[in-house]
Amino acid sequence: MMKRRFPALLSLNFAISVFKDPTHITRSISSGKASLLGNLRMLATRVCLRARLSSQRRCLRFNYTKEFLRWGLRPPGFYQNWHIGVRVKASKKLVAFITGIPVTMRVRGEVVRMAEVNFLCVHKKLRSKRLAPVMIKEVTRRIHLENIWQAAYTAGVLLPTPAATCQYWHRTLNPKKLIDIGFSWLGDRMTMSRTIKLYRLPTSTATPGLRKMELRDVLSVTRLLQNYLSRFIVAPTFDEDEVEHWLLPQENVVESYVVESPETHEITDFFSFYALPSSILNNPSYSTLKTAYSFYNVSTRTPLIQLFQDALVVAKQKDYDVFNALDVMDNGPLMRDLKFGQGDGQLYYYLYNYRLREALKPSELGLVLL
Ligand SMILES: CC(C)(COP(=O)(O)OP(=O)(O)OC[C@H]1O[C@@H](n2cnc3c(N)ncnc32)[C@H](O)[C@@H]1OP(=O)(O)O)[C@@H](O)C(=O)NCCC(=O)NCCS
Repeated sequence: MMKRRFPALLSLNFAISVFKDPTHITRSISSGKASLLGNLRMLATRVCLRARLSSQRRCLRFNYTKEFLRWGLRPPGFYQNWHIGVRVKASKKLVAFITGIPVTMRVRGEVVRMAEVNFLCVHKKLRSKRLAPVMIKEVTRRIHLENIWQAAYTAGVLLPTPAATCQYWHRTLNPKKLIDIGFSWLGDRMTMSRTIKLYRLPTSTATPGLRKMELRDVLSVTRLLQNYLSRFIVAPTFDEDEVEHWLLPQENVVESYVVESPETHEITDFFSFYALPSSILNNPSYSTLKTAYSFYNVSTRTPLIQLFQDALVVAKQKDYDVFNALDVMDNGPLMRDLKFGQGDGQLYYYLYNYRLREALKPSELGLVLL
């Protein structure tokens, strides 16, 4: 089936190209050319898929920044030729892309070099022409050339066969704005002022010794993270370079806070979240939704719920509107107590070419993909 349709695509005159710089994607978008706006729209639809927002919430479009893409696509040891775009030869229009990054994963005690495949996107006008399988095949081929035979990826759609089925939870930080833009709505017998009161957070964090992560914390954070992630059936094995890349704070990309014991100066806990803003479409009052996504959190002394609550307080101080978290790792049981609301759909995790005996529970998964 795919073989039959691929020549048809070729006859439309497409060229597969490698991105020299992943930020190229946003550069194209911000150039504002009508022909390239589609890129943004393609990415935008992922909002709906990833968070499974209801039709009322289809007013949002992911607004990836250059810095975010650089962070997400250029970890230590990345392969430039795993950032793949398809252009129309004549117009140079970018009409599809897919990316992979290398990761070392531990699966049931076995350490496996893998790829994380992400950012699959096909221009709306080229949907349902089986371009996605072609993209997947091409990235797979390039991954194989590096002698890597396994991959991890997530999707909002059910494909054969998920390694785990997870759920997004959303914690309202700015109720008025979320209600105004139709992201959420007033509950039964709730008024706006009651809702604002319900989601109000303390103005300062509760944990003594909480501070922004710095370069000097990389070793301690690596140790904490490695220890913690070793409890899960599937989890990455981050080394110091990776921790520096993934967790060292970058303004409007990733935020990480450590708890330094006031007595011993030991780093005992940390939390992190990444920032992925969305454009709000057709709204006269608001243009951007600031969204935080829980990333990796480790608690050894501070109760995890307090750490999480402090993450919400920091996000609120930084003017985020909503805080999203998956029910992976130890997050699940905390969600209701922290006033997260359950998202209305699933995020499926997949492992390519790796058979798990049975599907994992979210709490057995120590992995967050962007
Ligand atoms: C996801 C997307 C690329 C699929 O493209 P499409 O044009 O609808 O689908 P195509 O005709 O090219 O290919 C269909 C095949 O791709 C598979 N497919 C669809 N989405 C997929 C995904 N996220 N991951 C892997 N395979 C996927 C389908 O199952 C189908 O295969 P099958 O017939 O063997 O079941 C497209 O809908 C898109 O760009 N959406 C917006 C961005 C997005 O949601 N990306 C995925 C994030 S999880």
